[in-house]
Amino acid sequence: MDNGKLTELINSAEAAQQRAVAPYSNFQVGAALETESGKIYSGCNIEVSSYSLTICAERVAIFKALSEGEKDFTQLVVTAKTKDFCPPCGACRQVLIDYAPNIKIFMLNSAGEAKETTIAELLPEAFTRNFLLDS
Ligand code: THU
Repeated sequence: MDNGKLTELINSAEAAQQRAVAPYSNFQVGAALETESGKIYSGCNIEVSSYSLTICAERVAIFKALSEGEKDFTQLVVTAKTKDFCPPCGACRQVLIDYAPNIKIFMLNSAGEAKETTIAELLPEAFTRNFLLDS
């Protein structure tokens, strides 16, 4: 992966984080996703007064991309102003394994440090569409 693209993704995720709609938690998250062709889709978390309707930054980014017809994703940056790296929640992991099974994930903390992982690492022994085809 070239570093230029990572910087672009980080900038995009941080800009999205600024747009977080998080009046209840005040916890702002940004995400930026790169497609195989190099296009970037970003997302922020959006909270709803009926709390469970809230959607995470990661899912906003990937749903935006999927809804534009994108199918192949290479990497995802997630930013949050926390000391520890903020990993995608369980729901986002399921969406990512379904639609971006080979994606690399970079989590950025408040110090700007990055931790790299993969969705395969974050969600081992995942349920996938293969089980549906096999039943
Ligand atoms: N959140 C995300 O957007 N992504 C994560 O990876 C973890 C949690 C959001 C959901 C909610 O708006 C707030 O953070 C607190 O849970």
